[in-house]
Amino acid sequence: MKLADNKATLSFSNGSPSVEMPVYQGSIGPDVIDIRKLYAQTGMFTYDPGFLSTASCQSAITYIDGDKGELLYRGYPIEQLAVNCDFLETCHLLLYGNLPNETQKKDFTSRVTNHTMVNEQMQFFLRGFRRDAHPMAVLTGLVGALSAFYHDSTDINNPQHREVAAIRLIAKMPTLVAMAYKYGKGEPYMYPRNDLSYAGNFLRMMFGTPCEDYVVNPVLERALDRIFILHADHEQNASTSTVRLCGSSGTNPFAAIAAGVACLWGPAHGGANEACLNMLEDIQRQGGVSKVGEFMEKVKDKNSGVKLMGFGHRVYKNYDPRAKLMQETCNEVLKELGLENDPLFKLAKELEKIALEDDYFVSRKLYPNVDFYSGIVQRAMGIPVNLFTGIFALARTVGWIAQLNEMISDPEYKIGRPRQLFTGSERAGKRAAAIQTLIVDGPRPPTHESPPHPGGLFLWCAGSASRPRIVVTPVTVQRVLP
Ligand code: CMC
Repeated sequence: MKLADNKATLSFSNGSPSVEMPVYQGSIGPDVIDIRKLYAQTGMFTYDPGFLSTASCQSAITYIDGDKGELLYRGYPIEQLAVNCDFLETCHLLLYGNLPNETQKKDFTSRVTNHTMVNEQMQFFLRGFRRDAHPMAVLTGLVGALSAFYHDSTDINNPQHREVAAIRLIAKMPTLVAMAYKYGKGEPYMYPRNDLSYAGNFLRMMFGTPCEDYVVNPVLERALDRIFILHADHEQNASTSTVRLCGSSGTNPFAAIAAGVACLWGPAHGGANEACLNMLEDIQRQGGVSKVGEFMEKVKDKNSGVKLMGFGHRVYKNYDPRAKLMQETCNEVLKELGLENDPLFKLAKELEKIALEDDYFVSRKLYPNVDFYSGIVQRAMGIPVNLFTGIFALARTVGWIAQLNEMISDPEYKIGRPRQLFTGSERAGKRAAAIQTLIVDGPRPPTHESPPHPGGLFLWCAGSASRPRIVVTPVTVQRVLP
């Protein structure tokens, strides 16, 4: 980290001595004030629920300029990567810091391709789930279970283990997502095919059957690959921070990524694509474009609890660049499938138009995010709505691993352990004394049934002689007496 020339000074109005804190400069983006010694020097913590102004780590992977609406992976604008690269090149970039040359690309693709199968036992594990289980519930379990199948890559402190776990996770996620889908449908699993691209193989595992050859549509293959690129990383978002925090305890990489999958599921994060499509379908059912005005009034009414899903972002205060690219992909896919007049796409465009002109959204700088159009593309491809977040998880896995590996290699990393402003009861000494009085004054158990309790602190609930009697302490059932 590079020290800035200036320092920050924190002063107090009660006459306590002021504190000087170092400032570090990023290569781009805001500087940070280093508050690590604040508690030692003042006995105080900082308070920042939701991390509105807190940098939790240093990172060289992904940069977002929220005001400009800019997203860079290792310095490359997302627009360039989406047009000129494929997903596996993007994975290489995120993991190792550079776009691969031809030899590196061949080697990386071959390593990923040769790890796409999962242990056969995984399918029996999958069978424990109900067929109607949400795919994200299934995926959280399956990814966590990988640590039980691949024992030779679970030491997060061993660089070789981390490398193998990274390749395994990137390679196996499409297989697991497709298995979760096939299981829900009651169709046979499709084994991966090494002669197909990453996206093409996934399409085949999803939509192919053993009964006939599956021909990959190149437009859909490219569109899916772009969806993967757009979701690959997004700096310190909720799920990535979850992966880092989970991994900071030294747990194994598969467990840390499973924590990321669980966090991503929420509708404020990766679950927004599913929530967005459900919202569009709801409006469509109620009358479509003619009901947009009415729906927008509900969104603006704070008491309604209704949000325009796929809109707004903690960091972007401008158009999310991924949303623009996703809209282009949406056009291409709908045209390829002859769905140019898709009513949900029309509805989404109408909602976007109204929102971008409405003072509620303009004044709060709320713009479409990546999830606004991604659901429409995926639905057109035949991906069921409840699998959208699973596709997001598949694509984000590389970002999670890159960030996890970066954390482990950072000499400054420590186990994550936030502090708190405590607002609960003070020491409960008086209450304990009151309980003791109550017991002493209450009915007592006959001596032959009443073993002495270490603190003499138990409540006595008398039953009839022929019924079981229960002795409880103030907090737990202690013993059932005959
Ligand atoms: N619809 C209506 N109002 C909104 C929306 C929305 N989608 N998003 C934010 N607002 C309002 C919010 O009520 C608040 O208003 P006020 O200042 O009057 O209280 C203001 O805009 C600022 O929003 P915030 O909730 O304080 O912002 P945040 O940074 O805490 O939350 C967010 C960001 C993404 C959780 C939120 O915008 C949201 O819930 N959006 C809908 C869900 C969504 O699309 N999530 C996907 C995010 S992108 C995919 C990913 O990377 O995870």
